[in-house]
Amino acid sequence: MPLKIALTKGRVEKQVIPLLEAAGIDCSGLKQKNRKLIINTSDDRFQFILAKGPDVTTYLNSGAVDLGIVGSDILTEHRNQQSELLDLRVGQCQFVLASTSDFNFNQPGRKVIGTKYPLITQLYFESLGQDVEIIKIEGSVELAPLIGLADAIVDITETGRTLRENNLYVYDYLDQVSTRLVANRMSLKQHAGEIFELADQLEQVVEQGSASK
Ligand code: PRP
Repeated sequence: MPLKIALTKGRVEKQVIPLLEAAGIDCSGLKQKNRKLIINTSDDRFQFILAKGPDVTTYLNSGAVDLGIVGSDILTEHRNQQSELLDLRVGQCQFVLASTSDFNFNQPGRKVIGTKYPLITQLYFESLGQDVEIIKIEGSVELAPLIGLADAIVDITETGRTLRENNLYVYDYLDQVSTRLVANRMSLKQHAGEIFELADQLEQVVEQGSASK
C-alpha cells in the first residue's frame, strides 16, 4: 500500500515538487496530471491526493491520508492536532494587517476586519486587548477595505504585489508562514519507518537548499 500524501494544490504544489524530486521521489505524474486528483508514483511508494489547504487538514484529521503538505497558516487557523514533522521552508509568506492610506489603527470604536483567517485575526486582536468585528471572506480579501466592507484586513502577503497594486499599506506584521510536512498520528505509529525515512530525506534536501542560498 502506498503512503497517501495530501498535497495542497497551486502555489504549494509547484514549490514542493522540486523538493520531492530532489528527495528521489518520482513526480512525473504530478507534473503531467492534467485534471487528475489522485496520482501514484511509478514505484508505488506514494500516492498524492491534490486538495485545497483546509481540506488537507480535514483529510489528516480523519485519517483519510497518512501525510499532508500544507501551509502553517492553515494549520494554525484549523488548530492542527496531528504531528508536524518538518518545515519545508517554501511557500514563505507573512501575515499582515493592511488597509488604505487613511486607516487609523487607533480609531475609536469597534473596527471591522475582513479575513480568510478568523481565528488568527481574533487571537491577534485579543493579544492587543481589542474587540473587533470579523467578517470571513473566501478570496481576494484586499477588496474589503476598498469597497467599504471592512476597515482593514488580516491576510498573507508573499511578494507584496497585490497590496501595492491595490494601494493598500501594511500597518502591522503578524506571524511568518511556511509549508509544513504533517503526519496523521495513527499513521505515524503504523508506518513510522517509511514516514521518518521520507521526512529525513526531505530534511536533507531542505538543509542543502538553505546552505546553498
Ligand atoms: C494570497 C493572499 C493575497 C495574495 C498575496 O491569495 O490572500 O491575496 O496571495 O500575494 P502577493 O503578496 O504575492 O501579491 P491567493 O493567491 O492564495 O488567492 P485568493 O485571494 O483567491 O485566496
